[in-house]
Amino acid sequence: MTLLDRRVILVLGKGGVGRSTMAAAIASACARRGRRTLLYQANANDRFGDYFGRPACSHEPGELGPNLWGLNTSPAAALREYGLMILKFQKVYDMIFENRITKAFLRAIPGLDDYAILGKAWYHTTEEKRGRPVWDTVVFDMPASGHSMTMLRIPWVILETVPEGPLTRDARTLQALLRDPARTAAIIVTIAEEMPVTEARELTARLEPLGIHPQRVLVNQMATDHFPAGSPAARVLGALKGSHVDGVLGAVTTHGAMAKARRALNEHYFAEIAATVPAPAFPIPYLSRQALSPADIQQLSGLVERALTTPAS
Ligand SMILES: Nc1ncnc2c1ncn2[C@@H]1O[C@H](COP(=O)(O)OP(=O)(O)O)[C@@H](O)[C@H]1O
Ligand SMILES: [Mg+2]
Repeated sequence: MTLLDRRVILVLGKGGVGRSTMAAAIASACARRGRRTLLYQANANDRFGDYFGRPACSHEPGELGPNLWGLNTSPAAALREYGLMILKFQKVYDMIFENRITKAFLRAIPGLDDYAILGKAWYHTTEEKRGRPVWDTVVFDMPASGHSMTMLRIPWVILETVPEGPLTRDARTLQALLRDPARTAAIIVTIAEEMPVTEARELTARLEPLGIHPQRVLVNQMATDHFPAGSPAARVLGALKGSHVDGVLGAVTTHGAMAKARRALNEHYFAEIAATVPAPAFPIPYLSRQALSPADIQQLSGLVERALTTPAS
């Protein structure tokens, strides 16, 4: 059993580090290994379709490839489905949820939108057709760190504040799922720079009281090492820098030096994250492109697969 064989894979991290890209790569790896996989998100600015050469994902699962489906929900759609799940019948649902007053009331409950999005993700893990699970794995491209924490804490908050009933029953089931490492994997995505590394460390610390322990850190967008120490390229760059060239050669030298500095910075922060976050860290390269293509996603997916299947030493 590897991390790719979990029921739920939570993909967490700061905004802009490539969380969605890594979620797509992870989902693609699960699907390649024969698992029926749902790539789940609630983000209006979806790019998953492009990543698989398909139309943008909608509220309904859409096929992205063999064994792979994508779903992009919204708070309203998730709330509607969650309501239907609790109330079971469309008629009852319509009576209660489509009522103008209840609608206004529901909108005023803090965290309800987030709970519906989390609850819907959980619902998909329990979905069955003819006695078989519909999804082997749900890969959840979570919101940015702070928002994810608010969302993940909701079952805990419900259990502390709401009297026993259907809501607490679900919250307890969800809590058990989230903190069970045999069923749920938590993967942190970051980049090797000061702020994101700090945030990844803080996120790990904030997940701990919930009993969620991230199993891997994917350090995305690592700069390529064009000038490894002692290589001919490094010697040439050193010589050019020493001879104060100008013109075209000067520009090339400046850019070479910048690339080398960028790589050094990434290596520094990679070492820092490896030393300070308990989960094993794996570097994922930055692919220098205008936009990532389906082939690029496959390449990243191969690397992510290795990161999630290599046993932690
Ligand atoms: N390893 C990578 N190499 C090159 N570009 C990347 C890589 N990872 C992400 N990107 C690009 O960076 C941008 C932000 O990635 P995205 O996954 O949308 O971030 P997030 O979901 O964290 O906000 C996108 O344009 C994406 O294609
Ligand atoms: Mg995203």
